[in-house]
Amino acid sequence: MKITRFSRIGFIIAATGSAVGLGNIWKFPYITGEYGGGAFVLVYLVTVLLVGFSTMIAEMLMGYLGRMDTVSSFEKLAPAKKHLWKFGGFESLAGLFIMIFYSVVIGWIFNYIITSLTSLPATPKEAENVFNNMLHTDFTTQFFYHTMAFVWITYVLNKGLKSGIEKMNFYLMPALIIILAGMFIYATTLGAFSQAVAFMFTPDWSKITSEAFVTAVGHAFFTLGLGMGTIMTYSASLEEDANLVKNTFWVVFFDTAIAIVAGLMLFTFLYQYGSGPAKGPGLVFISLPSAFYEMGLLGNVFAIFFFIALAFAGLTSSVSLVEPMIKYFIDRFSWSRLKASISMGLFFWFFGIFAILSNIDGAKEYLTWGDKSFFDWVDYVTAAIMLPLGGLIIAIFVGFVIPKSKVESVMKSQLKWAFEPWYFSLRYITPIAMCIVMLSLIGIL
Ligand code: PFF
Repeated sequence: MKITRFSRIGFIIAATGSAVGLGNIWKFPYITGEYGGGAFVLVYLVTVLLVGFSTMIAEMLMGYLGRMDTVSSFEKLAPAKKHLWKFGGFESLAGLFIMIFYSVVIGWIFNYIITSLTSLPATPKEAENVFNNMLHTDFTTQFFYHTMAFVWITYVLNKGLKSGIEKMNFYLMPALIIILAGMFIYATTLGAFSQAVAFMFTPDWSKITSEAFVTAVGHAFFTLGLGMGTIMTYSASLEEDANLVKNTFWVVFFDTAIAIVAGLMLFTFLYQYGSGPAKGPGLVFISLPSAFYEMGLLGNVFAIFFFIALAFAGLTSSVSLVEPMIKYFIDRFSWSRLKASISMGLFFWFFGIFAILSNIDGAKEYLTWGDKSFFDWVDYVTAAIMLPLGGLIIAIFVGFVIPKSKVESVMKSQLKWAFEPWYFSLRYITPIAMCIVMLSLIGIL
C-alpha cells in the first residue's frame, strides 16, 4: 500500500489547523466573558503549559512510534494485554460525536457569511431575534448549511491526507491568519483596546469558581485538539527524523496566540461599539454582528471576513476530527477512502439533523433530557468526559505502560534536561488534572 505523508511543514500546518478551530474564535472569547476574564485566562494558559504541552508530545509520540490508526497503535505499543489496550484507540469516536454539533455550527457560520453580505442587525435586540429565529424556528436553513458543511468536509477527506487535508490547510490557514491579523491591527488602534487588555489580563481571583477552573482546564484540551487521537493519527505519517518537541511547540504557540488575538480583538469591538464583553454562545452570533453594524461600512466588510475566517477555522478542524476513524476503517478493514469518508460523513450528517431538531420549537421537547438538548448533551459528553478521559488514557499509557527505555530512546535527545520534568508531568500532573475535570463535570466533586 502506498503511504501518503504530510510534508514537514504540511504536518505543522495541518496540526495547527486542527487545533485552531471554533474553540479558539467562538468558544474561548465567550467562556472568558462568562467567567470574568483575567483569572480564567491565566488558569487556561497555565494548563496549556503544564498539561497540554506534555500531553501533546505524548500523543505525537504514540503516533510516531505506532505508525497506524489509533486502535492498532495502542495494540502495537502495549507490551502486554494488547486486546484490552486497543480499546484506548476508540477514543477517536469522540471526533465523530463532536462533528454532530460542530458541523451544525459551521452551517450557522455559512449562513452568517451570506447574511453579512446583505444586511447586519442594527441593535443587539434585533441580532438576538435573528439568531433565535434561526435556532428555534428555521430548520430548513440550518439543514441546508449543515448539509453543505458535510459535503465540503467529506469531499476533502476523500481526497486524502496530502491532496485533501494538507492542501486545504495550506490555503485556508494563511488566509485565516491574514484576516485575523488585519482585524487585530485595526483593533489595536481603537481606544477600547486597552480595556480589552485589562479585561483579559487583570486577574480577579474572586471570579474563579471551581466551575470556572474546570472549564478552563477542559477547554485547554479541547482547543489543542487532544485526547481523541487526532494528533496521533496525523503524526503516524511523520518522517523518522521529525522533532516532536518543535512540532508541538509551534502548534501550541499558534493555537494560544490565535485564541488571545481573537479574544482581544472581539472584546475591543464589543467595548468600542457594543455593550462590553458578552457572555454565552451568542457572543459572535448576537453581540458581534450588532457591534459590526455600529462600525458602519467597514463593519460590514469585517463581518464578512470574520465569518469567513471562522468557517475556515472550523473546516480545518473538522477534517481532523473525522480522519482518525477514517484511517481506522481503511487500515483495519481495508475500506476504500471513498467508502470510509462517505460513511463517516453520513454518520455526523444524520445525527446532526437531530442536533438541529433538538433546538427547534415543536421538536425540541422530544429531544431534551434533563436540562439539556441533544445538541448540548453531545457537546457536554464529548468535552467533559470523552476528551479528558482520552487524555488520561494517553498520559497513563505513555507514562506507565510503554517501557521507559522506549520512550527515552526517542524523547531524551529531543527534550534533554526537560525529559524528567515532562515524564513526571505525564505520570502525575496530567492524570490528576484530568480526573479533577471529569469528576467535577459529572458532578461528583
Ligand atoms: N481544537 C478544535 C477547536 O478548538 O475547535 C476542536 C478539536 C479538534 C477538538 C480536534 C478535538 C480534536 F481532536
